[in-house]
Amino acid sequence: MISWQVRLGGTASETLVGRVAHGLLGLTRTMKSIGDEQAFEAIKAGVDALPPGTKMFLNSAEFYDNNFGTGNLELLRRFYDKYPEYADKTFLSVKGGIQLGTSPTPDCSLENLRRSIDNIQVALGPIKKVDLFEPARIDRNYPIEVIMNNLVTLLNEGKFSHIGLSECSANTLREAHSVYPIVAAEIEVSPWCYDDNQKAVIATATELNISVLAYSPLGHGFLTGQIKSLSDIPEGDRRARLDKFKEQNWKNNMAIVEGLQAIAGKKGITTAQLCIAWVASLGPTMIPLPGSSKATRTLENLKGGSVELTGEELARVDQFLLSNPVAGERYFGKEVDVYLWG
Ligand SMILES: NC(=O)c1ccc[n+]([C@@H]2O[C@H](COP(=O)([O-])OP(=O)(O)OC[C@H]3O[C@@H](n4cnc5c(N)ncnc54)[C@H](OP(=O)(O)O)[C@@H]3O)[C@@H](O)[C@H]2O)c1
Repeated sequence: MISWQVRLGGTASETLVGRVAHGLLGLTRTMKSIGDEQAFEAIKAGVDALPPGTKMFLNSAEFYDNNFGTGNLELLRRFYDKYPEYADKTFLSVKGGIQLGTSPTPDCSLENLRRSIDNIQVALGPIKKVDLFEPARIDRNYPIEVIMNNLVTLLNEGKFSHIGLSECSANTLREAHSVYPIVAAEIEVSPWCYDDNQKAVIATATELNISVLAYSPLGHGFLTGQIKSLSDIPEGDRRARLDKFKEQNWKNNMAIVEGLQAIAGKKGITTAQLCIAWVASLGPTMIPLPGSSKATRTLENLKGGSVELTGEELARVDQFLLSNPVAGERYFGKEVDVYLWG
């Protein structure tokens, strides 16, 4: 039976969080601005649905607004100013460690990581401290041991409580964890994003008891079936540039959505819930990380974490995905190291 809660890995093993996390990117990187009240309700709905003593895992970044600025953290500052009691009820992970110029570049030097976490904490304000800090991309200019030592230095200065990695390989995760325990590895996982890299990271995380923060489990919304045609994507929306959303791949990928819809319908759940339950089923440390700006969807997604798929249903999904391969690469191509989607 899938429980509503899961214990985090690494140094946060005392912390119980909801089985499904909440990604906050879409609250501030959006073509249609979302007011504070709607954003606050979307966050609170998830927190309030969890049993006492269980924290909601929230995910943000130093650069989650339309100008790669701190707008998302400023929104969180207003949230915690208004609802200070939610500081203790939430476990906040924030990505940083990027040089944010015209061409964003990973920079995991001690100097830039310090600049980044200080900038994050200033924007976030005094009520909530960053629980988990992650370099958003691994800086290939440094061995992972050096990056980890830099992170541990800042952790020992009290700037955050735990360390995570984003977009890491299985080998990097293992090496990093041997320097200092990693709480979570944030990687993209969904029914249309599950290949050898994902499988290797999940296997390593399972072995080392590291949480896998599985981002974009709904295929950036495409897999929910709520996006019916390219014209449903607002002009300028970041997703229109993604390979899998391109016109030449649309028909193929829409057939995947229709197949998932049929399986979900038979089970009496939504397609979003099927995606989330399937991602959750991939390992004991999986934490699906969907994003939503609507309270109803936060709740729908959270419930997806308590859906148990039978062996037969899982086999049906796997068989369907095997015979209906996705068209298009992740992002724009295979190399995603420096592209900052989220
Ligand atoms: N580490 C990284 O590099 C990285 C990269 C990308 C994302 N992330 C993290 O992962 C989180 C989620 O990723 P994502 O937003 O790209 O993708 P996602 O969670 O797969 O999809 C989000 C989209 O689906 C819609 N949606 C959410 N729940 C739905 C439901 N139940 N039914 C129908 N539509 C639904 C949302 O719209 P509404 O807002 O209108 O509900 C939004 O447009 C981000 O917030 C961020 O925290 C990390």
